[in-house]
Amino acid sequence: MKQNPFILTGYNSPEYFCNRHIETNRLINAIENQRNITLISRRRIGKTGLIMHVFDQISKNKSLIPIYFDIMGTTSLHEFAEVFSNAVIRSISRTDSAIKCLLKKLAALRPGFSFDPLSGEPRISLDIRNEQEVSLSLDLLFSLVAENKRSFVVAIDEFQQISSYPEKNVEAILRNHVQQTGNIGFVFSGSKKHMLSEMFSQPSRPFFSSTEMMFLDVIDRREYFNFIRSHFSKRGKVIQDDALNSIAEYTGMHTFYVQFLFNRLFSLFKNVSSEEVKQSMQRILNENQPVYASYLNLLTIIQYRILRAIALEGAVESPTAGSFLARYEIGAASTVSQAVESLARKEFIQNESGQWSLQDKFFAQWIRSKKGLRP
Ligand SMILES: Nc1ncnc2c1ncn2[C@@H]1O[C@H](COP(=O)(O)OP(=O)(O)OP(=O)(O)O)[C@@H](O)[C@H]1O
Ligand SMILES: [Mg+2]
Repeated sequence: MKQNPFILTGYNSPEYFCNRHIETNRLINAIENQRNITLISRRRIGKTGLIMHVFDQISKNKSLIPIYFDIMGTTSLHEFAEVFSNAVIRSISRTDSAIKCLLKKLAALRPGFSFDPLSGEPRISLDIRNEQEVSLSLDLLFSLVAENKRSFVVAIDEFQQISSYPEKNVEAILRNHVQQTGNIGFVFSGSKKHMLSEMFSQPSRPFFSSTEMMFLDVIDRREYFNFIRSHFSKRGKVIQDDALNSIAEYTGMHTFYVQFLFNRLFSLFKNVSSEEVKQSMQRILNENQPVYASYLNLLTIIQYRILRAIALEGAVESPTAGSFLARYEIGAASTVSQAVESLARKEFIQNESGQWSLQDKFFAQWIRSKKGLRP
């Protein structure tokens, strides 16, 4: 079966990865020159894809071993250690003897070993019983990597998650390890810009000024259009300019939404004009209707009015400005800033370069198509 070139999860290969040349080179340069780096962007712009692409590029360098793990969903340092140990297994300990050696090193934490029933990947669980053992687990894992003769680059995705761990001094503990391991370069990545920026830019925080910062934005429109055209023409398909322009309009060129729409269009049509884009967009909105309707239950009337007004505008600089409030009959400015804060906290809206917009581009389209709706 032929691969749809517009992939929707993870990373496949350079062939299906669009552009990001400058960002890729910058990350590789930081890694090769032992500078730790923090990668920040809105949700679904392509942070994880970029890390995987960089790892794919550096995999030719056999003396540099990449270790990737995503700590989204972890709730404690204990779980962090477990996810880390599994990433170590995947990267450096694939042979039976290496796995045995790793289990021996972690023996004090009573490790269990199994295979993931879905992926078939080897999996370790650690029986960590108290704070000393949490600390021991990190000591063992970091020293295990540090003892290795090769160099490592460790990417920790959704790094802001550590702020929610209940243990004391989590940032200081991790910062210590990061500082002490000479043969490991770190890439920290996440989408909670506010939380990550604070972690790395406030003098009182352990990670203050400890890494280079890198903000990822949408892929250059011309480059993305060329990538799309080339994949269509490789399979004898046609994508018309009006289709590309209307996709740009619907998605704001936000990577995930562009990929999602093109995955559909590519699978359904041989020749795509703005008419096919409109049809597919409508179908996607219909499919998601129950999800979007349930979002509305999470909102108060005022929050919904603001959300709708921002969706109708596309992007809004100041949702508390008198003219904006009056145009959309939202209400008093005093209640609006609280509602904006709450919408941002619930990740319905985000502020990028001074403009508020809806995070979910398809949800924004759905709201636009249902202008008169009240929750
Ligand atoms: N340069 C690219 N070319 C083509 N597709 C890409 C590119 N970068 C990312 N993608 C695709 O876009 C989607 C979102 O990317 P990714 O998951 O990397 O974003 P993210 O910023 O890590 O998202 P999240 O904030 O949810 O973790 C995925 O389907 C991914 O395959
Ligand atoms: Mg990601």
